[in-house]
Amino acid sequence: MILVTGAGGKTGISVIKALVSTGEIVRAMVNNKDYREAVLEAGAGEVIVGNLLLSDDLLEAVHGVRAIYHIPPNVHPEELKIGQLVINAARGARVSHFVYHSVLHPQIESMPHHWLKLRVEEYLIESGMAYTILQPAAYMQNITSSLLEIVEKGVYQVPYSVNTKLSLVDLMDLADAASIVLTNQEHQGAIYEMVGTKALSQQDIAKVLGEVLGKGIQAQQVPLAYWERQAKTSGLASYQIDTLVKMFQHYEQFGFAGNASVLGWLLGRQPTSLKNCLKREITGLEI
Ligand SMILES: NC(=O)c1ccc[n+]([C@@H]2O[C@H](COP(=O)([O-])OP(=O)(O)OC[C@H]3O[C@@H](n4cnc5c(N)ncnc54)[C@H](OP(=O)(O)O)[C@@H]3O)[C@@H](O)[C@H]2O)c1
Repeated sequence: MILVTGAGGKTGISVIKALVSTGEIVRAMVNNKDYREAVLEAGAGEVIVGNLLLSDDLLEAVHGVRAIYHIPPNVHPEELKIGQLVINAARGARVSHFVYHSVLHPQIESMPHHWLKLRVEEYLIESGMAYTILQPAAYMQNITSSLLEIVEKGVYQVPYSVNTKLSLVDLMDLADAASIVLTNQEHQGAIYEMVGTKALSQQDIAKVLGEVLGKGIQAQQVPLAYWERQAKTSGLASYQIDTLVKMFQHYEQFGFAGNASVLGWLLGRQPTSLKNCLKREITGLEI
């Protein structure tokens, strides 16, 4: 049995599907009982509704599992504490393998959610547990989640310069990689960067969107202040808004680039291109 935390989110659902497709039995830990149906539909064999900040919930979640795939909550101020609690619970329950879903370039101190992940990596390395760390680039699914709006407006909007270059990864490739490392002991002790493409400018991305959608799509920078107002209206908390603004500023100043060789080696095939990911994701959408 493998425990997946943060299981109700987009990463969790993809990882559950990939693990279940290889015959693994998954226990999904979700924050909110409303996610129960989604993780069961993805194939989870068991569901625990619990809070990652509560030791009692964690004790129940880790009981009897062979391995853990820990997905931290997205941009959470207590991400380090959560990581430490999950690692402590796993060590106490003698879980044999801890796989941590980190992020590409956790070393960047100016991005708080990256820096907290680096501190969790440090804690895991010093825990004495057998571990593997995956460091994903920005997901292609961050783009595909707005496909309908992009088609409607003919515009791909980003809160940084359209010349900003980012490497991307397909969440399905990441999930396949997670499944590979969780089911092969040979990846214990490894830290792998999960990158699927070279660094693409936002104009490059708009061009691929246009090719796949069969209509002209323009990349457009929206002012950060506008993005902040929208984020506030949609209910994002101030820690999340401030952290994401720092991330956008880092992206614009330095880009966010990695190398796809490790993911290609691990998967035994070329990582999925943005074009192929978009083609797959538009299937079934009424576009
Ligand atoms: N998106 C990217 O491009 C990208 C790239 C690299 C790494 N990452 C990292 O991947 C991780 C997951 O991202 P995601 O996009 O899959 O996030 P997500 O969809 O928001 O999923 C995170 C899940 O964690 C749950 N959660 C939050 N607080 C919790 C708590 N106290 N106890 C138990 N569960 C809790 C959330 O439940 P509720 O909704 O009920 O709060 C949610 O289901 C993040 O740490 C992110 O930094 C993302």
